[in-house]
Amino acid sequence: MDTTKLTLHSQFRIGEVDPRIFGGFLEHMGRAVYQGVFEPESAHADEDGFRRDVLSALERLKMTAMRYPGGNFASGFHWLDGIGPRSQRPVIRELAWQSIEPNQVGTDEYIRLCRKMGWTPMLTVNLGTGTPEEARNWVEYCNAPAGTRFSNLRAANGSPDPHGVKLWCLGNEMDGPWQLGHVPAEQYAIRAQQAAHMMKSVDPSIELVVCGSCGVGMSTYMEWDRQVLEHIGKLADYISLHRYVGNQNNNTADYLAVTNSIDQQIEEMDAACRFVQAKTRSGLRPYLCFDEWNVWYKNMEMDGEGKFAPHLIEEIYNLEDALVVAGFLNSFIRHADVVKIANIAQIVNVIAPLQTRGADLLVQTIYHPFEMYARRREGLSLQVSISGPDYSSPTYGTTRVIDSSAILNGEKLHVFATNRSVSEFARVEVHLADRKLTGLESGELLTGASAMVANTFEQPDVVRPQVFSAVEFLDGKAIFELPPLSLVALTFHQ
Ligand code: AHR
Repeated sequence: MDTTKLTLHSQFRIGEVDPRIFGGFLEHMGRAVYQGVFEPESAHADEDGFRRDVLSALERLKMTAMRYPGGNFASGFHWLDGIGPRSQRPVIRELAWQSIEPNQVGTDEYIRLCRKMGWTPMLTVNLGTGTPEEARNWVEYCNAPAGTRFSNLRAANGSPDPHGVKLWCLGNEMDGPWQLGHVPAEQYAIRAQQAAHMMKSVDPSIELVVCGSCGVGMSTYMEWDRQVLEHIGKLADYISLHRYVGNQNNNTADYLAVTNSIDQQIEEMDAACRFVQAKTRSGLRPYLCFDEWNVWYKNMEMDGEGKFAPHLIEEIYNLEDALVVAGFLNSFIRHADVVKIANIAQIVNVIAPLQTRGADLLVQTIYHPFEMYARRREGLSLQVSISGPDYSSPTYGTTRVIDSSAILNGEKLHVFATNRSVSEFARVEVHLADRKLTGLESGELLTGASAMVANTFEQPDVVRPQVFSAVEFLDGKAIFELPPLSLVALTFHQ
């Protein structure tokens, strides 16, 4: 059996892991809001109409920043439609997903949900069919003390105190021709700069995320980002990255190597930020906000056909998808110095870790890695030097069999390791060079009979973590074996 050595040193630090990389994304799409988090008719509904079963499963994921209301939906959404007495809100034929939007959940309901869940609100303004002034007015509605036109509206709607929304996205995927109101980079940059200026004038404490180019395959990649960042200057606190991946070639080992290209995407976007910072001689630089990421390639049903809460992109996830989700999280932790926010897309029903069917709730495979990491997310990301076997991926090049990241939290060391081999066990040694590992506080292993095994409503526990304690300690090193296609999350004492 091959051995992989993971060598770390407590002083070789990448940076503090920002809890906001464990964010989520809730879009008015398909059954994410209606029949997802919100279903007043459900036996599970709480006093506000939110589904208790869904919320309690989400609670275990300890999500932080919750991006809302889209996504593509945001580019046709007028926030005034979603406030005030529910019976007076308009029913809209919305165009991003060709669905019926009754506006029964809007700003105030979303804020209530955030408060219930301990989520940090993160709103996307409409820079597609909306105006910079409409965006500015939304900031006033949410954040200004009562006494002005829009803040008085909020007070009249039952919230005399400001909602205090600190994170705002300046539109969504504006470089994509599918986006409502899509424009070339120079026009988006002007629109975003105007909105940013007015929004920050209303509340200088807010942080803004500008739209980056929305995918590595886009012809706009990097050039869009350069132009937008140069124009917007110091008003940009973050730039967004999006990434959806899949096993289109039906080759598990190749698919699991996609982590290489996620690392690359982060490093390229960071390079664009540094380039603009250097070119403009700016003391400030934007950080990265990976505000949509996940596996998505199997279910491409995106036409709501004029229906309310249609079944859209309800992806079913298997074991290999869960390992890829772990790969995304490893990559964010490895780049903790630059990735400050990340939002898994999405949270329920739509490309999500949870799925509802009537009163039932299914926990999908990708739920588990998120939970295993989220419980160990606090601390400093350490560099992990990986020495061990590798393999050649046709799409992503030379790839380590073991993928890993680590977080040091005082006397605890959290180590995450994925065995990407489809057939071989792997022996792993963890060595914290300047300290001795003395014991295991907790460990979980996620694996399954094959890459394709999935949870279903009929068999919901096919893939779920098992307690893992088979770790030996020798000269301060921790040694364990990983089955093929597995993820382990371990917390050591030193
Ligand atoms: O998450 C689904 C969609 O994917 C989002 O609305 C959009 O931003 C992206 O293309």
